[in-house]
Amino acid sequence: MLTPHYRVPSLLVLLGPILMAVSRAAMDSQALYELEKEPGYWDEQARATLDAALKLRPREHQAKNIILFLGDGMGVSTVSAARILRGQMDGGSGEETVLAMDTFPYVALSKTYSVDKQVADSASTATAYHCGVKANAKTVGLSAKAVAFECNTTFGNEVYSVLRRAKAQGKSVGIVTTTRVQHASPAAAYAHSVSRSWYSDADLPSSAREHGCVDIATQLVTNVDIDVILGGGRMYMTPKGTPDPEYPTSNSRKGERKDKRNLIDVWLKAKPNKISRYVWHRKEFDEINVKNTDRLMGLFEPKDMRFEVFRNSTRDPSIVEMTEKAIQILKKNPKGYFLFVEDEWRIDHGHHDGIAKLALTEAVMFDRAIQRAAQLTREPDTLTVVTADHSHVFTFGGNTPRGNPIFGLAPKKADDKMPFTSILYANGPGYIHINGTRENITLVDYYDEEYMQQAAVPLDAETHGGEDVAIYAKGPMAHLFHGVKEQNYVAHVMAYAACLEPYTNCPPHLHHHSHSSSDCVNPPSSLLFFVLSLLLLFR
Ligand SMILES: *[C@@H]1O[C@H](CO)[C@@H](O)[C@H](O)[C@H]1NC(C)=O
Ligand SMILES: *[C@@H]1O[C@H](CO)[C@@H](O)[C@H](O)[C@H]1NC(C)=O
Ligand SMILES: *[C@@H]1O[C@H](CO)[C@@H](O)[C@H](O)[C@H]1NC(C)=O
Ligand SMILES: *[C@@H]1O[C@H](CO)[C@@H](O)[C@H](O)[C@H]1NC(C)=O
Ligand SMILES: [Zn+2]
Repeated sequence: MLTPHYRVPSLLVLLGPILMAVSRAAMDSQALYELEKEPGYWDEQARATLDAALKLRPREHQAKNIILFLGDGMGVSTVSAARILRGQMDGGSGEETVLAMDTFPYVALSKTYSVDKQVADSASTATAYHCGVKANAKTVGLSAKAVAFECNTTFGNEVYSVLRRAKAQGKSVGIVTTTRVQHASPAAAYAHSVSRSWYSDADLPSSAREHGCVDIATQLVTNVDIDVILGGGRMYMTPKGTPDPEYPTSNSRKGERKDKRNLIDVWLKAKPNKISRYVWHRKEFDEINVKNTDRLMGLFEPKDMRFEVFRNSTRDPSIVEMTEKAIQILKKNPKGYFLFVEDEWRIDHGHHDGIAKLALTEAVMFDRAIQRAAQLTREPDTLTVVTADHSHVFTFGGNTPRGNPIFGLAPKKADDKMPFTSILYANGPGYIHINGTRENITLVDYYDEEYMQQAAVPLDAETHGGEDVAIYAKGPMAHLFHGVKEQNYVAHVMAYAACLEPYTNCPPHLHHHSHSSSDCVNPPSSLLFFVLSLLLLFR
């Protein structure tokens, strides 16, 4: 039963101007809880949401640009926890926070199993969402006829990514990652390899080299002309023994190529008619003038980039800044672009380490990158998809009260009379038993950046989870994402939306007169909330 008319308590009227003065979600949690006691608050909020749902129209024309955001290991529980963290970082209660990805109008579930695994890895899943074909674990850019590590099963089994098909149609293409750019998730966009870990030729067994298999770094610069490449992975690009510019005295970070090629130079010289730039430092990156840069390669670490919480912001750009620069360069192409942005190694690897704070902080940064992209693009011509490759055995629960710090304790002690954190893992390195009982964390700093939440089963590395992940979409053809779908469907919708192979029977272009000003509005996440509060207070 809706409550169309009720008297606003005077306390709330007094709060109105204060609410207006407060920016973002940093509203006093107590005041928020008071508002929430009013049925009208929920009715108004739901009515505004219903209005938006009723007005929502599918955009049934062609997409000029496609951006695929991939949160490696970003299962639904990770998204919910990251949402609370983002709200709490802004001083709010957390749960009511609206992530940038939460504002996407269309959502589907993605079944992540691979041809050979119930619980999949990042390589087979990358082949699915990039190339549209499910595959075997450990392999990238190959159908399931290819057998992991068997070089001679490579040839004839190649499958081609949407990135590659977009390039073939004259679009600009880019990859942005917080890991090495040769890592499985970006690799499936440009490489075909029976092993995801053949980063440089030094990683290939000699038999594979003899049979003609080529390392992923070489394929990065020879298979398809990628206009923007940002991430880590310098050491796979330079001749064996080349000192790293950032860690010149470190032996373990030297270049490792046995063929003595400098692949950075190969990439720089590949398009003599274009202005190509290579940077490895934040300062040079900031100085890049997007107006007169056609191609940009930025490799900021010898291997993976650092976790956001440990990032040296003088030296390395964030995923938000890399995404921004990539879009600014790619959008100069009148035919549009395809961009892949991935917070891979970091969300995923925070979880593998059993350290939720690392993973969730990354997920928050990932959401900020999605938000930044929304500001730099227009929904009528850009299909934006946010998804994950697989989940993790990460969970949070325990009857925690509203506003409970996401890294905090559940309110009650467990049956063993000891406290427990709300966040727990089903398995992983957080299994610490002392004298037969789990660790008493009363005096442990579970808010620490490196605190490992407890796990039920001991494992060196926490594992992936097998449940579905979400697909969030907005822009042209975003409505094709609904219901429960196989993961390889992602590539097919992107190809269809942008009229790429094999979808020649594609949707028409957008007619310019159909642009409306409202299309350009990207409301900040908390705007709806404030408008609602004000509506409620002043009616
Ligand atoms: C491929 O190589 C493996 C050994 O690595 C060999 O056992 C197999 O027979 C080869 N297959 C073909 C078709 O050459
Ligand atoms: C960050 O990098 C700069 C430049 O290399 C260096 O001077 C500084 O000490 C680094 N900061 C930290 C906290 O490592
Ligand atoms: C856990 O540690 C706290 C602080 O040292 C202590 O007071 C409490 O008794 C311990 N609980 C159990 C069940 O050992
Ligand atoms: C484990 O048990 C042993 C023997 O009862 C005892 O000496 C030791 O202090 C216990 N360790 C901890 C951390 O409680
Ligand atoms: Zn993983």
